[in-house]
Amino acid sequence: MREMFITIEGIDGCGKSTQALILKEKIAIHCGVGVVLTGEPGGTTVGSIVREVLLNKDMDNVTEFLLFAADRNEHIKSLIRPSINNGIIVISDRFLDSSVAYQGFGRGVSFDFINYVHSFITQGLKPDLTFIVDVEPEVGLRRLKKTDRIENGGLEFLRRVREGYIELSKRDRRFVVIKGEMDLDIVSDEIWENFLIRRKEWIESQKD
Ligand code: TYD
Repeated sequence: MREMFITIEGIDGCGKSTQALILKEKIAIHCGVGVVLTGEPGGTTVGSIVREVLLNKDMDNVTEFLLFAADRNEHIKSLIRPSINNGIIVISDRFLDSSVAYQGFGRGVSFDFINYVHSFITQGLKPDLTFIVDVEPEVGLRRLKKTDRIENGGLEFLRRVREGYIELSKRDRRFVVIKGEMDLDIVSDEIWENFLIRRKEWIESQKD
């Protein structure tokens, strides 16, 4: 049976990577099904090389998007699809929506172009459930210890990215927005409660 594909998104410093790890551990303990935690950029061997370039070298905005898309294509084909098709739940720390939020809303790359490339590489694959961990950009920036090239985009850039995520969350029921400024345990409990609801719905939908 095909398994669920879950993504976790948010601006830099929102705490999503810690939350993704907690979710993975809870699924492994409570769901009796295999689960892998992966992420973008850099979830594959090729992707880890692309990640180095992306986070360290200045480049044109379209080049930047295409490199994220190349990383994503490799990620889908070598890891995400084979895993869910083999009955393993996949949690990805960032996916499609990161490019729409950062390169589209943040940098102004054409949404039509982004969507076109995405439709080509995903061949219809989209997350079954996406958590957006939402924090104020000021909070996100304050939490970052060391910043990479994209995180150096500054407050205005992060504001646009955050607005982008909020806008996206209104377009599709797969999104669940979680307030990320509370204690870590409160945030992870909220993610877990929502996961259980969506998991139940998903299992029901597979019976049809
Ligand atoms: P990530 O490794 O998730 O960093 P962090 O753990 O700080 O969130 O992502 C690195 C950076 O790449 C991050 O600033 C977000 C950015 N990014 C994009 O701009 N577009 C994308 O499509 C993806 C996947 C990431």
